[in-house]
Amino acid sequence: MTDTQLPLLEVRDIRKVFVDRDFQTPVLKGIDFTLQRGEMVAMLGPSGSGKSTLLSILGTLMRPTSGSFRMLGRELTTLAEKELSDFRNQQIGFIFQYHHLLPDFTALENVMFPHAGRLWRETRAGRERATMLLERVGLKDRMNYRATRLSGGQKQRVAIARALMNQPALVLADEPTGNLDRENADQAFALMTEIQRETGTTFLLSTHDRELAERCERRIYIQGGVVATTPANRMPLRVIAGDLPAVIDRTSGSPPSDGSRQRA
Ligand SMILES: Nc1ncnc2c1ncn2[C@@H]1O[C@H](COP(=O)(O)OP(=O)(O)OP(=O)(O)O)[C@@H](O)[C@H]1O
Ligand SMILES: [Mg+2]
Repeated sequence: MTDTQLPLLEVRDIRKVFVDRDFQTPVLKGIDFTLQRGEMVAMLGPSGSGKSTLLSILGTLMRPTSGSFRMLGRELTTLAEKELSDFRNQQIGFIFQYHHLLPDFTALENVMFPHAGRLWRETRAGRERATMLLERVGLKDRMNYRATRLSGGQKQRVAIARALMNQPALVLADEPTGNLDRENADQAFALMTEIQRETGTTFLLSTHDRELAERCERRIYIQGGVVATTPANRMPLRVIAGDLPAVIDRTSGSPPSDGSRQRA
């Protein structure tokens, strides 16, 4: 298989147990799924089901307890810290619920930051790309405003531009619209969808917003520490909204042999 045919991300049996002195909190109990290049996938699940934990692991910000994941064919769980941070800077963009912009810096400086951080200096090419991205997210006239002088929706659009700065293959977004009103949430989501289509960037976003999740190409439902079975994931959300799908509890047995296990 050539590089371009490889899936973007293959996640296999990822488990996470938080250990605090003698207290253990098992959160992820064997997560399996695959993301193809250019997909826009929503991750749903009850509060506390481990969505943010999984995004942190896939973003290589946190190590899993066990399991593996390959991105663009590269196994990331065994990479050393330095290689991991290089890979992360080049291939992964992050959008958080709270924009995490640097308040005293302008929109332009905030967008340039991942690039300047990578090269340890500002470059003209970096400035040009950041300018282009801010124009793309509709903030041409706010480029030189400090982050504190931007509205919530504008800040999140800066955060979207920042996530794209290094032309990542994958954008991980943790409730990217969770802090926005309906109108701004719709706008931010529409922007991400347009960018995904224009650039082929893959998006995995966690959300509690079922309307937005329905607009994604596919949904992954996390429940009980595992990915819910395939049929439920493919059902329209209104069907599963009131009736949570059955899950494979991999702590108590093997997955069913009827092929219904999630291998999206
Ligand atoms: N550092 C930690 N130590 C112990 N437990 C933790 C730690 N971080 C998260 N947890 C636990 O892991 C579980 C999953 O948390 P996580 O934030 O991933 O959930 P979530 O699905 O993102 O929830 P929400 O939808 O509310 O954002 C929670 O029960 C939480 O208490
Ligand atoms: Mg969360």
